[in-house]
Amino acid sequence: MSGAFSREEIRRRVDALGPWFHNLDLNGVSTAPSHFLGDYPRVKWRRFAGVIPENLHGKTVLDIGCNAGFYAMEMKRRGADRVVGLDTDDEYLEQAKFAADVNGLEIEFRKMSTYDVGQLGEKFDLIIFMGVLYHLRHPLLALDLIHEHVARDLLLFQSMLRGSSRIDTIERNYDFWTTSQFESSGYPKMHFIEHKYADDPTNWWAPNRACVEAMLRSSGFAIAAHPEEEVYLCRKAARPAAAESLALPEGALR
Ligand SMILES: C[S@@+](CC[C@H](N)C(=O)[O-])C[C@H]1O[C@@H](n2cnc3c(N)ncnc32)[C@H](O)[C@@H]1O
Repeated sequence: MSGAFSREEIRRRVDALGPWFHNLDLNGVSTAPSHFLGDYPRVKWRRFAGVIPENLHGKTVLDIGCNAGFYAMEMKRRGADRVVGLDTDDEYLEQAKFAADVNGLEIEFRKMSTYDVGQLGEKFDLIIFMGVLYHLRHPLLALDLIHEHVARDLLLFQSMLRGSSRIDTIERNYDFWTTSQFESSGYPKMHFIEHKYADDPTNWWAPNRACVEAMLRSSGFAIAAHPEEEVYLCRKAARPAAAESLALPEGALR
């Protein structure tokens, strides 16, 4: 509860737990006031908050790659019965636990990789998978595992996008000798980053818009809304037959 922490105590803990990626307002103390994207992620959230139900009473939420818990906390504020946040980074999880504590929000934060969501043994009404896809070496596997193990209805998804925002109409099949489609900027493309991008060695992929939309569909997520350039709200749908037969068994990466 914020009343249980003095402003000085919050300031001291925020400094000790930093650096922060999420700029949170903890009882008047900003956690990342100099973020290179501004008041992040609040500035982004404002652009798509309207596509998430105002009232999440009776719903469960899983925030994968929750970082310091900005989205998990917003979902709890909307009344979700149960919110679980996962991240692989101990320091971000410590930030999230402290922030939720200051805000008096009951959220379960766990150290777990998106590849291990099958271990949760539970489906969630809303999955948040924001800003994680391009940090993964195996992004399509992550989407497949989310679809198979934890998604029940909605997926809120975001990815960094690079390249054209054009979307070509794609044929279901092309002759072996037909290659011009691959030269088009509107064909689904994902750029592989062998070393670093934006000083971050965990940026492995930079997909274009056509690519993330195709990946979502291919993993069995129907796009219901596209409220912001990088953000999609999807509904769980049947996975296309070709993807179904190629799904990897649980634990394939362990
Ligand atoms: C760019 S941040 C996005 C944070 C937050 N979801 C948002 O949109 O503001 C990426 C987060 O994903 C986490 N992450 C990276 N690889 C992960 C994995 N395999 N499983 C779960 N989280 C992961 C990072 O630790 C980091 O907190």
